[in-house]
Amino acid sequence: MWHRDAVIYQVYPRSFQDSDGDGVGDLEGIRSRLDHLVDLGVDGLWLSPIYPSPLADFGYDVSDHTAIDPVFGTLEGFDALVAEARQRGLRLLMDVVPCHTSIEHTWFREHPDWYIWSERPNNWLAAFGGSAWTKLGARYYLHSFYPEQPDLDWRNPELVAAMQEVFRFWLDRGAAGYRLDAIDRLLKDAELRDEPPASEPFGLPLRGEEASLARVMSRNAPGTGEALAHIREACGPEAFLVGEIYLPSTDWRPYLEHLDAGFAFELFHSPWEGGPLRRAVEATLSVREAGAAWVLSNHDFPRLPNRVGHENVRAAAMLLLTLPGTAFVYQGDEIGMVDGPGATPPRDRAGRDSHRHPMQWDPSPGGGFSDGEPWLSSVDPVDRNVEAQRIDPGSLLSLYRDLIALRPGLGEGFELIEAAPGVLAYRRGEHVVALNTTAEERPAPPVAGAVLETEPGALRGGELAPHAGVVAASA
Ligand code: GLC
Repeated sequence: MWHRDAVIYQVYPRSFQDSDGDGVGDLEGIRSRLDHLVDLGVDGLWLSPIYPSPLADFGYDVSDHTAIDPVFGTLEGFDALVAEARQRGLRLLMDVVPCHTSIEHTWFREHPDWYIWSERPNNWLAAFGGSAWTKLGARYYLHSFYPEQPDLDWRNPELVAAMQEVFRFWLDRGAAGYRLDAIDRLLKDAELRDEPPASEPFGLPLRGEEASLARVMSRNAPGTGEALAHIREACGPEAFLVGEIYLPSTDWRPYLEHLDAGFAFELFHSPWEGGPLRRAVEATLSVREAGAAWVLSNHDFPRLPNRVGHENVRAAAMLLLTLPGTAFVYQGDEIGMVDGPGATPPRDRAGRDSHRHPMQWDPSPGGGFSDGEPWLSSVDPVDRNVEAQRIDPGSLLSLYRDLIALRPGLGEGFELIEAAPGVLAYRRGEHVVALNTTAEERPAPPVAGAVLETEPGALRGGELAPHAGVVAASA
């Protein structure tokens, strides 16, 4: 399977490259920047939603699953992008949003029974705050996210058939698979029973009051496997399906019976410390080694330097790109992009603008993103941009490129190994990877010699420099 050890680059289309000066990135912009992906050496790209959307949730409120929003381009433009990506050996994943639509989707008016309704709201909470129920006429509809995103009823066979068409549509047009949005919300308790109070921590960060409830009724209901089987049936065995399963990996099993992989959120949210990182890797791999989609950053959470610290971004890149499985790189991480100021007034009501600022291609004030007024300002293109880092062998971009080039040669097999406190170490085939998460020198495990270092001198005299990492030949 091509995706087993693939590296996939997440493009957030609004912020990648604008080609027509309207300040919003588009498909033609992505096409014009494919060279960057080829240069990095990735195997494919995942496009965050490009469908028509009233933008209550910036594209994750889809009003037509089988069309392209005019702001991004046309279906012909999409075909051209897929074809050109293919020519360059890049596969393209679409982002499908199966659990809800925009309230403006025609389905909501024409097929209200494809959605979930109740005479009286229960105690379920929406991910971005407040009750998960909104009154319309005499009834309430369920929305796990914003009120503008009513939840679909996957127990209704007509809805299942309609969504199967959607899944076929983009695969027929050349997509290689899907990232499945919020897939743990596919099925809810059939009787819509109240959520009991939480009796233990959930294991992943939650917003606000959501943490007070157990999350056993409002998502991840028995029957999820059957619903996922319909998705797999529509997609066929070849399509790569990666789920945004926002659950601890111990709950992944029914998902991995039908999907190829789930995003490893335990590692994503782990503090940058040896012990927690080790436990997160172990937890994920104990579910299924090949089922891991490693990811350390995306459009929903603070940027990598803001979470792990600037001093650790090189070691984070080494971790992400040397674990066994598929690795996902969020656009801009390869140049160390940081959170920006967002917009006033905010574009996203849940406060995620800061993580979505435009890609920085060159040092010009707009970073080369757009000739017009960008929808979000650029952050610091002088300090970090692709143009400068591409030709600098010591840059973060060069490290990403070197790590991606090294991946196929790392070898089979994976084993966590004992190491000094604060050092995460593992064997990958004939190699040992060791990462120092601390601000002091720490002894490295015994190795024969460095193959790739996060910076010159990362490994010296058997000691790992502070915050440094090394891929080395086994002793
Ligand atoms: C996923 C997306 C996020 C969106 C949510 C609702 O978590 O990554 O951006 O708001 O689903 O669709």
